[in-house]
Parts: sequence; structure tokens; C-alpha cells
Amino acid sequence: MARLKISDEPIDLIDLINNKAQTSERGEYNSEGNDLKVYIETYGCQMNVADSELMGGIMMSHGYSPAQSIDEADVILVNTCAVREKAEERVFGRVATLSGLKKKRKGVILGVCGCMAEHLKTKISERAPAVDLVIGPDAYRRLPELIERARSSDKFDPVVDVRLDRRETYEGITPARQEGVSGWITIQRGCDKFCTFCIVPYTRGRERGVAPREILRQARQLAESGTKEITLLGQTVNSYVYEGVDFADLLTAVSQIDGIERVRFTSPYPVDYTPKLIEVMAKTPKISRYIHLPVQSGSDEILTRMRRGYTVGEFRKLVADLRAAMPDLAMSTDIIVGFPGESEADHQQTLDLVAEVRFDFAYMFKYSEREGTFAHKRIDDDIPEATKGRRLTEVIALQESICAEDMAKHVDEVFDVLIEGDSKKSASDWVGRTGTFKSVIFPKKGDAQLGQIVPVRVLRNTSHTLIGEIECNS
Ligand code: 5AD
Repeated sequence: MARLKISDEPIDLIDLINNKAQTSERGEYNSEGNDLKVYIETYGCQMNVADSELMGGIMMSHGYSPAQSIDEADVILVNTCAVREKAEERVFGRVATLSGLKKKRKGVILGVCGCMAEHLKTKISERAPAVDLVIGPDAYRRLPELIERARSSDKFDPVVDVRLDRRETYEGITPARQEGVSGWITIQRGCDKFCTFCIVPYTRGRERGVAPREILRQARQLAESGTKEITLLGQTVNSYVYEGVDFADLLTAVSQIDGIERVRFTSPYPVDYTPKLIEVMAKTPKISRYIHLPVQSGSDEILTRMRRGYTVGEFRKLVADLRAAMPDLAMSTDIIVGFPGESEADHQQTLDLVAEVRFDFAYMFKYSEREGTFAHKRIDDDIPEATKGRRLTEVIALQESICAEDMAKHVDEVFDVLIEGDSKKSASDWVGRTGTFKSVIFPKKGDAQLGQIVPVRVLRNTSHTLIGEIECNS
């Protein structure tokens, strides 16, 4: 997923829609001129953030405008994640709050969109009867018409559209993006891997690539609007293929666009790294020296039962090949602890692998059984909650100690840092990223500007952030 990284915090897209609604060059916004305002709230992975931008683009082109706050919205859309139970529970909590708001303001339309809509379908209204719309990830083109249907309906049942469409890539739709230093482009939708724990192939449907012409159109448009860094998104992004164009070809093409300084991608799948892709990455300095490489477990037995399609030995070899080609490469991973049948010995093998590879960062989760997956149907969720909790604590503690040690090694190094904005804590500091995707905070100085790449010397660190200063003579 994610890769889809799952955040538990909602991401507010209002500024984003706002910004673009006023600046579209294609003049396609407000074409139908209604006076309705929409508020989109996003949970989950970067693909969901990108999908909310897409929904924003569709809504704006049908005359909607962005609500400045939830209180002035006529339509509230919650874009959701289903990857773990916790993510769904959080959305149910939020929808309950929003349902209260609906009672006070008659006529407001409340929609649940995305993976949870696809996963639970009509079951959503059993727990959240105030929901008017249930919309799966392949039905966003129909959003305006579905909203109209809900607005004119006097039935209690929600309007539901959860049809998956293996040809839908949303070609031709320009997402309502925030103009900024970084921009996302979805290059692939769905997933064909069917890992036994994962709900995504069922919620997002089968894998399909977006046409290269569409990806390049969006990339050029981003570059023209001042974007410096593009992140290509897909569930297993490096399995991308479209009529003979593979992922390595696409990376090469995107990194040749004038104005684009950095190209990133997420989430790659381990078995889809080809020698050609590694070679393209190594010889193209604009391609980020950071990759997310979800290993999930350090035990062959567990990897087999997860149906990941690689062994620990093959994963190690991939890490070695990548590091041989790019010695400065930073890596993060995903780990699931407490998969059914995971013994103490299996867990120890995960800890051993984490200690050996020394990932720069890891997203670590307790196994969460998801209805509809192979594991749910065939494998008993037999690891007690307390054991899952303890194993998670152990792997987090190990990874945190690695982060703290390895970040300290960067003190006194000088990095090229892309300035992304003001630091959260102080407007007199910049925050930016190294080519290895590490966060750096440093005082503003000279005429350095947002979107510029500047040399920064690291003075100290925390376990996840470098603190430095702009190197003199710049
Ligand atoms: N339980 C726990 N974690 C999961 N992930 C996916 N499905 C589950 C599940 N059922 C994690 C994996 C994946 C990341 C996006 O979420 O680690 O890589």
C-alpha cells in the first residue's frame, strides 16, 4: 500500500483544492457553475492522498468549490483505508462525529469513499446510518452524478457504487493538486499480488498501468507549475508495464523533464526489481537514493505463508545488489509481527534481519485479520494479542536504536537538501529533505528559496531528523 504508508492522522486537502481551483490553466473548473462546496478528508496511504486530489479535480470540473472548513461544506467526503482494522475503526469514529453535524445542518451529504467503502459496501450503513454515499475507488468519475442522486433521494438507503473496473485509470483527469515543491502522480492502480494478509487486491481491484502519455502530461504540467520533486505512485509500482514501456523506461522519461530535480517512487515490490531498473537508478542522479522495500518478515516459513514470492535469502541478495549499485542508498521497510503461526524463532529471525540490514526507517504493524483475504478464510489468527504487542514493542525498540545510531553517523556530513517549506516549529527555520529522504531542519539564511537545493552541514540529530546549517559560500 501505502506504498503506501498508512497514517492515522487525517490529511486536510482543503488548501490543496483551493489553491488549484483558482489556478487551473485549462479553465476546466467551475465549468458548470453550481454553488456547492465540498470538503474532502483523507485517511491512509499516499495513494489515497492522490485519489483525494483526483476527486477534487473531478468535483471542481463540475462546478463545486472547496469548503474552507467542514462547517460550510454541502458535501463531505471521507476517503478511507481498510488495510488494518484500526484504520476502519478510526473512520467509523469520525463518521459518527460527522453524523452529529448532519443532524444540525440538514441537507449536507456525507460520503464514505475508497477502500473501506469497497470492503464493507452496504454494511457501512449498518454502523453509520447517516452515510448518504458509499463510493469505491473506481467510481470517482461518477461522483457528481452520485451526489446529485443522493441529494434528490428521499430514501434512507445510501447511494452505493462500488463497481470495480479493470480499465479505469482516470486518464484525462487533472487532479486538484496543491502547487508546491513536491507532487504525486499515480502511475498504476490495483494490485495482482494477493499476499494472503492483504485486503488491497479486493478493495482496489486488479493491477493496471496508467498510459505513459498521461503520466508525462501530468509530470510536465507539474514541472511547469514549479514542482521540483515527483513521486510516482503504485501499489507495486515497479511492476508497472504499459504496452512495452516498463518502470525503468518511465523513470528515465520522467527524470528527463526540465525543472524536475528529483524523482521518487513508492511502493516497490521486492521481486519486481530488475537488473535494468537497478542500473537506471544507479546512473540517474535525479532518482532518489531512498527506497521503500517492504520485507514483512525475516522467516522463510512466514514469507511462504504470506505468499510474498521471495525468500529471506533473495531479499538479502536484493539489498546487497542495490547497495552495490548505489552505496549511499537509504532504505525503509514494512514489518508485520504476529502473522498466524509465527513462532518465537520466526520472530527472532525478523529481529535478526532488522539488525543485519539496518533499515533507515521501518513501519511496523501487528497482524490484523481482514475479512475476505486468504488468511482470513484459511489461516487461524492464533497469536494472542499480548504476544503480538510484545513482539511489536521488541522490533520497534530495535529499529529505534538503529535509527538513533545511524542518524548520529551523519553529523558533520554535507547533504544537498531540497527546501520543502517552513519547519513546523519555527518560521525562521527551513525543513527539507536529503536525496536519501532524510528530514533536515536548518535556519533560513541568505537568499535560499523554497524549492531550491542547498548544501547543508549536519550539526546534530534526533533519531528521525538531522539539524544543520546552510554551508557557507552558497
Ligand atoms: N495486518 C497488518 N499489517 C498489514 N499490512 C497490510 N495488510 C496488513 C494486515 N492485514 C501492512 C503491510 C503493508 C503495509 C502497507 O501495511 O506491512 O506493507
